[in-house]
Amino acid sequence: MNIHVYPNDLEASAKAAGLIIEQVRNKPDSLFSLAAGSTPLKTFSLLVEAVRQGKADFDQCRFASLDEWVGLDGSVQGSCRQTMNDHFFRLVGILDKNIRFFDGKSEDLTRECADMDSFIEGNGRIDMLLLGIGLNGHLGFNEPGVNPDLYSHVTELDPITKQVSVKYFDPPQAVASGITLGLRHVMEARTVILLASGSHKAEIVRSAFHDQGSPTERIPASLLREHPNFHLCLDQSAAEQLITTNAKGD
Ligand code: F6R
Repeated sequence: MNIHVYPNDLEASAKAAGLIIEQVRNKPDSLFSLAAGSTPLKTFSLLVEAVRQGKADFDQCRFASLDEWVGLDGSVQGSCRQTMNDHFFRLVGILDKNIRFFDGKSEDLTRECADMDSFIEGNGRIDMLLLGIGLNGHLGFNEPGVNPDLYSHVTELDPITKQVSVKYFDPPQAVASGITLGLRHVMEARTVILLASGSHKAEIVRSAFHDQGSPTERIPASLLREHPNFHLCLDQSAAEQLITTNAKGD
């Protein structure tokens, strides 16, 4: 586990963007999966800037979605697809043929999962995964207690996820379940970056990653401790309890 702590969110986001730019330079046809949500938005801005300055080129890359709210698709403000379109895909001109996204409105979600698994398998495996962390430790919509052996699946949302979801939607959306890549995809990805910022993430970051903790599916993010190529990028506020706990050794 590589832990990177920066004084502020912008610098932590720049670290994540730097790792992504390095990846695309080393392997221009990389398969990425990038979280939506609030956390990666600064990273996306930095990537867009890098493309505009000719420092990065995603034209040959492919993108698998990480997750989507069941019942929503890219036409809904606040959906994962809409967020990715507005903050990254459309701004850097990623072609639709290079994007495989979960359609949360599909009448056959089992098929959506199977198609996603085939897409990823057909491309080898995910080269680089950018994740956020939920206040309950979820990754994508791999909620506490998830079976770590799953690939793509549909899941009932944890009460905390439903509560937090309110911030994404105006007008409000009643979300009850999600469709997501599974922890097997996460653990099989060649490189995983988890970005977290803000003091509201400090407690879950400590629970998931402090020195004496053991990985458990009750805190899905903690399983990343066993990933061979994992970067935890934090700002000082999100890292605060982790640093204190690790330093104290309790
Ligand atoms: C979003 C996603 C979620 C978020 C997590 C943190 O696509 O997969 O797991 O990364 O809930 O959300 P924010 O960044 O809004 O705090």
